[in-house]
Amino acid sequence: MRTISMPEDESDGAIEARLAEQEYFRPPTRFVGQANETDPAVYDRFEENYPEAYAEWADLLEWDSRWDTVLDDSNPPFYEWFKGGTLNASVNAIDRHLPERKDQTALLWEGEPGDTERIAYQDLYRRVNEMAAVYQEVGVREDDIVTLHLPMVPALPISMLSAARIGAPHSAVFGGFSAQALADRIDDADSDVVVTIDGYYRRGEFLDHKAKADEALELAETDVETVLLFKREDELHPDVEITSDDPYVLVDEVLEQKQGARVDPVERDAEDPLFLMYTSGTTGQPKGTQHRTGGYLAHATATSKYVLDIEPEDTYWCSADIGWITGHSYIVYGPLSLGTTSVMYEGAPDAPDKGRIWEIAEKYDVDIFHTSPTAVRMFMEWGEEIPAQYDFDFRHMTTVGEPIQPEAWLWYYEHIGGGDAVIVDTWWQTETGGHLITNLPALKDMKPGSAGHPVPGIKPAVYDDQGHPIEKGSARAGNLVIERPWPGMLQTVYGNDERFIDEYWREFSETDSDDPADWVYKAGDGAVQADDGYFRILGRLDDVMNVAGHRLGTMELESAVAEVEAVANAAVAGREDPQKGTVPDVYVTLRDGYEESEAVRAEIVASIEDQIGKFARPANVWLVEELPQTRSGKIMRRLLEDISNDEELGNTTTLRDPSVPERIREHIDH
Ligand code: WT7
Repeated sequence: MRTISMPEDESDGAIEARLAEQEYFRPPTRFVGQANETDPAVYDRFEENYPEAYAEWADLLEWDSRWDTVLDDSNPPFYEWFKGGTLNASVNAIDRHLPERKDQTALLWEGEPGDTERIAYQDLYRRVNEMAAVYQEVGVREDDIVTLHLPMVPALPISMLSAARIGAPHSAVFGGFSAQALADRIDDADSDVVVTIDGYYRRGEFLDHKAKADEALELAETDVETVLLFKREDELHPDVEITSDDPYVLVDEVLEQKQGARVDPVERDAEDPLFLMYTSGTTGQPKGTQHRTGGYLAHATATSKYVLDIEPEDTYWCSADIGWITGHSYIVYGPLSLGTTSVMYEGAPDAPDKGRIWEIAEKYDVDIFHTSPTAVRMFMEWGEEIPAQYDFDFRHMTTVGEPIQPEAWLWYYEHIGGGDAVIVDTWWQTETGGHLITNLPALKDMKPGSAGHPVPGIKPAVYDDQGHPIEKGSARAGNLVIERPWPGMLQTVYGNDERFIDEYWREFSETDSDDPADWVYKAGDGAVQADDGYFRILGRLDDVMNVAGHRLGTMELESAVAEVEAVANAAVAGREDPQKGTVPDVYVTLRDGYEESEAVRAEIVASIEDQIGKFARPANVWLVEELPQTRSGKIMRRLLEDISNDEELGNTTTLRDPSVPERIREHIDH
């Protein structure tokens, strides 16, 4: 049983009631005693010595040559970090640990069916060198972009680190994305080498993953020259076929000739891109956030050390997918750069049963556990009896991706943390590269529901829509902005500087100024800052939804729906969901001559799955007579959101026909 120590006679309900009243939670003494950052002066030091203090972060890395300038801000918002420095990310994640810890496990992989791999730093070194040689063999050169479409198998981090070794930026596309989504990303990056696998396991089933690459090759305009194909098992899956005239190359066949190969790491400028990560924005087209090598790696490493409190001796487990930014920064680059043991799990949390996560935590004696509020809510629904059956003991826990409700936080604290693990709620984004708002766990008290204080040196603020700062403690919510640059920030939107400025800077900056003080980054989130300085994040303010911690653009969903022939007009609204945070509701009008039917609904769902992926599947598809449109024809999504959430309707006076929302409500109530 894991409960916090309480007088014997206090029942569980009483403990919960007592906890619920408590606003702050002191970090447990056993945590504070051993934490990586225990000096409260760190905040002032970074404040007074900005940006030079960030040299402390860069000093956690191994550089080939040291930088001349910590921050060059002469051309905002195209900031340059650690200018003049050179380094290689794979050397930082692997080579530099060999003298001390070559036999220590770097990656601890658990397959869904229960097969495992323990990859020591020395093995990782060998495999990354050999894979780098495979890339070279098929013609990948420095600065070529390689697209990775892989599930949670060791091939994914290995493919990333080997690309980094030869200075080829990787663009990892989440394995759950469809063929069309993969093709769009291949085209946007003009990437002619793709890495994939025959398949993987999900809830006991072997999924044919190569089929998506086959289809993507048809859909992409880019002439993909090579597809490097990994195998999930010793033998290629019998259902998977390769013909001689397609671009597939079996990785294992090339590897056979590359045994023992050593590939010299390329010295990359700090500002050379390390990777692209596509993410949803407010238009239909996903954008490639481009991350630099030096600043990104420094940020991911320093926050892994000071926020996640990782020590080389720890077993650390972040249950995210490496195909998203969380996995890049906090499964691969940050933890490995610190020389720790990072756990990876292939499958579903309930395969074969709902105890799987805790079974893994027990088996590997995990010290630090990182997950999402969506997962916490799911564990909560499954019941506290499940984790109570396993023997694990976390020192530190994290949440990321969405706001966590105090109720879920308390459950996590008590039933997973046993009341004596520290918890950090980390706010950041694909664009920010690493944490920006979250407590340094030994220095700030935990406050359920609040991400907390800014990371040292980070300068967030809350602005009203006119761009005026809102005083903390005023209880007014506004736009979350960041007032000065930070090392992990995106360099640009790949191939589109204009869009970079439009999406993140234009609204609150003076874009014709060269003075960095006039440039303010817009996060797209709503936030409120309490009197005590703690930031509470309220969620997206733009047309971006956060579905179970996955970011989805309403425009992307709508364009997928519009592909269906029967559809005249489509709008997507976010519906609040007790487990997933938000789920998409689709509202559609049909073209003349088409009838409402289950077949049309199914076609709409299928189109979303094809264009984006199964994870984007809508909760409801409502076929309605009319959508709420303004006189100028703009669809008012906010009113649909009110309908989806069964709330009072907002202002309808600008509608061409103000009776439309009520009629929709009546229609869907049946
Ligand atoms: C959006 C970024 C990089 C984290 C994984 C998601 C939301 C993120 C929190 C948090 C409340 C959060 C925001 C943000 N978000 N962390 N701790 N509390 N909201 O990365 O896909 O780029 O999404 O996730 O809305 O803008 P992403």
